[in-house]
Amino acid sequence: MRIPISTDEPLPQPDGPFVLVCPTYADGEGRGAVPKQVIHFLNDPVRREHLVGVIGTGNRNFGATYALSGRIIAEKCKVPLLYTFELAGTSTDVTRVRTGLETLGRELCSTTP
Ligand SMILES: Cc1cc2nc3c(=O)[nH]c(=O)nc-3n(C[C@H](O)[C@H](O)[C@H](O)COP(=O)(O)O)c2cc1C
Repeated sequence: MRIPISTDEPLPQPDGPFVLVCPTYADGEGRGAVPKQVIHFLNDPVRREHLVGVIGTGNRNFGATYALSGRIIAEKCKVPLLYTFELAGTSTDVTRVRTGLETLGRELCSTTP
């Protein structure tokens, strides 16, 4: 599911556990790191209840604010920051994320009553 860029479009409503992958678009000081649409998406308690982890993305050229959105969401929503990657990620990142999500999915299935 994708959170749409346009605020006119409806937001997705996951009906089970999900991991949020979030880019970072901050100013030089780290303000605005979490996109407004994502804040809006997470303002819903049911969505937050289903959130099991976050993956932050960004660009290491931004230094201290690298992938900051992931760290902010992890802290605010009390979920683990599962991974971070730059831009669209390398093929290694893609493999790690796919494998990690599959493992997490299996673990959730085996622990959910
Ligand atoms: C205006 C702007 C601000 C950005 N600020 C940050 C930042 O603070 N930290 C960071 O890690 N990346 C920053 N980035 C880089 C983006 O997070 C990076 O390009 C990411 O790949 C964007 O995701 P997308 O490719 O899905 O659009 C910024 C990019 C733009 C255009």
